[in-house]
Amino acid sequence: MLRLQVPLPDRYTVAPLEENEARIRAAKELLGDQLLILGHHYQRDEVIQFADARGDSFNLARFAADNAAATHIVFCGVHFMAEAADILTGPHQHVYLPDLNAGCSMADMADTDSVDECWDVLSEVTDVEAVVPITYMNSSAALKAFVGRNGGAVCTSSNARAVLDWALGRGRQLLFFPDQHLGRNTGYQMGFTEADMRVWNPNLEAGGLEEREIKEATFLLWRGHCSVHQRFTPDHVRAARAEHPSVTVIVHPECAHEVVELADEVGSTEYILRAVSSAPAGAAIAVGTEIHMVQRLAQENPDKTVFSLDPLVCPCSTMFRIDAPHLAWCLDQIVAGQPVNRITVDDDTAEWARVALRRMLQIT
Ligand code: 13P
Ligand code: SF4
Repeated sequence: MLRLQVPLPDRYTVAPLEENEARIRAAKELLGDQLLILGHHYQRDEVIQFADARGDSFNLARFAADNAAATHIVFCGVHFMAEAADILTGPHQHVYLPDLNAGCSMADMADTDSVDECWDVLSEVTDVEAVVPITYMNSSAALKAFVGRNGGAVCTSSNARAVLDWALGRGRQLLFFPDQHLGRNTGYQMGFTEADMRVWNPNLEAGGLEEREIKEATFLLWRGHCSVHQRFTPDHVRAARAEHPSVTVIVHPECAHEVVELADEVGSTEYILRAVSSAPAGAAIAVGTEIHMVQRLAQENPDKTVFSLDPLVCPCSTMFRIDAPHLAWCLDQIVAGQPVNRITVDDDTAEWARVALRRMLQIT
């Protein structure tokens, strides 16, 4: 979803990197403990160097929830992450996204209207009381509120297994959105098979499924995906193994199941970071996730051969929107007492979304 990011003044866009870096340093110095900069692992080096905390989306949500001291939280990540931070922080804390166009194309693949329509169909066809809706963190606050209202929870790539185990202790069926791959990969990890899963296509009548399929499926998987992770293929895994016979292949669970099946390890961005950092010197590691993170892992681990599973560069174009000029501008506006790009979630949505997020935090 395109949001409205105003063009930055020229003094930020034409300035050399060092000038914007100096502005960011000065603003951090001035704002001190009032300011907290959170950075997702996919952020560029020119931005992540200024983060007070780096993490995957679960850790960043927890970090925001645990830091009541900072009144200005600048989120270097994407829109749904900033929304989650706003929901989990107090009313005295304000969350900002340096570029409003930093969305997530996967999160935009499920909207409230189509999820409501799906729920209506499920109510007609199956015992909807026994369906537990689970939304991936990569979703709008409105969808988090939907699952909160309907007895479900949020999950991230680092806790999907625990959340889905919890959900199947509460109900007989799961509606999982928006990432079919995370849902499917977690279902397989739990011992389910393709026969237990059906894909709900929101563009088709009744999701493109027959009544019997809807009733019988344990997992109803929303037909959404991440365009960055969907690029990785089984051929990439085979090529990496052919070139480096001792390679360890580590991929993110947003990759397709055929890729995950061939990989040695699968996990969130934080998991990948730890796995690479703790690998022995000399190890060869092929990583299936966003390229900025892979390049940084390669730089930070010069004693290992760390490379992207896809030889063609694979950036997340929306994460990439946050750059030093936008960060410098956002911080300068806070210093000037005229903050911009504040991310707010209305009270009713926030209340139910908080229920769904807190369930996740309690489960894990
Ligand atoms: P993590 O929670 O693993 O950081 O993933 C977030 C994401 O958007 C991956 O594409
Ligand atoms: Fe969204 Fe994919 Fe980018 Fe993650 S990598 S923020 S899922 S588009």
